[in-house]
Amino acid sequence: MIQVIDKIDDKIDLIEMKNDDLTVVVSNYGCTIIKILMKDKDDNVDDVVLGYDDFSDYQTKDAYLGALVGRTANRIGKGKFSLNGQTYSLPINNGPNCLHGGIRGFSYQIFDYKIVDNSIEFSYLSKDGEEGYPGNLKFKAIYTLDKETLTIQYLATSDKDTIINITNHSYFNLSGAKEDIYNHQLLVHSNKYACIDSDGLPTGKYNEVKGTPFDFNIMTKIGDVIDCDDEQIKLGAGFDHPFIFNQYKDQVELFHETTGRKLTVCTTLPGAQIYTANYLDGRIGKYGINYPRRFAVCIETQNLPDAINIEEHPTTILKKGETYDETTSYKFEVIK
Ligand code: BGC
Repeated sequence: MIQVIDKIDDKIDLIEMKNDDLTVVVSNYGCTIIKILMKDKDDNVDDVVLGYDDFSDYQTKDAYLGALVGRTANRIGKGKFSLNGQTYSLPINNGPNCLHGGIRGFSYQIFDYKIVDNSIEFSYLSKDGEEGYPGNLKFKAIYTLDKETLTIQYLATSDKDTIINITNHSYFNLSGAKEDIYNHQLLVHSNKYACIDSDGLPTGKYNEVKGTPFDFNIMTKIGDVIDCDDEQIKLGAGFDHPFIFNQYKDQVELFHETTGRKLTVCTTLPGAQIYTANYLDGRIGKYGINYPRRFAVCIETQNLPDAINIEEHPTTILKKGETYDETTSYKFEVIK
């Protein structure tokens, strides 16, 4: 069942998707996931994503809690890239780089939407030159709730060659924000990750995870590895790195033993930025709860950030007339 449950103003709505397993509240502002309510192994219901009580915080604050991020997730080095011999400049909003699509990226835009069966279809026309990106980009994000799985499909076409790299920036805390993430266990099917510099920008170098704190090929308690003496961990103040997947489905699992809650992420994309919320700053979030650093895990499925400046054949190029079509699903289970 999908219904509008609140109106923030005449353009921004809160929409609830609900079935026996999950209640998901989203807004057409930034296609933001506001709440995900699920049971634990004793049938207690909690909200497993971070967010704000005061809606204006989504519009003014910078941590992208729950937001859809675009046109390009993560960083573009110095906010510059060349395509077809032309140089483009994006807003600089994170050290020397452009982060998460610029100052007024998709996270801060109002989307049109329609409800179709058990889906919400959000759409947005990003005009040629918006935040510096080329091409009129026709964009759609389709959120579907089916049993315990929330699936998001992203679709886009452009009338000029451009770049695109969309993600969802939910901050998961499966304890229901009752504790930090040190006791959460993480599994990432990945043999290598992209190294970052001190500004969080991928350097173009990759490290093998084997023998490092980045090896999550078996379920590992985050608290056991996050403070390891490792140069890349220090640069990210924790995990804040693109992991390259080595399988095509169910690539990431997050598990919280005390509640039995388990999240499985499955995506068509080749990797994810795993971010342990190292830069949360103690701000007050939903239910008046204080969010200190490392209070959540973001699993930001995407192509390699800054691919346009790093890869020989950048995976983030969307050619005129072609369709960007990627899907990520989030399955919320209780293991009893
Ligand atoms: C980035 C972090 C950043 C966070 C919030 C993540 O995707 O990798 O470095 O602090 O988003 O903006």
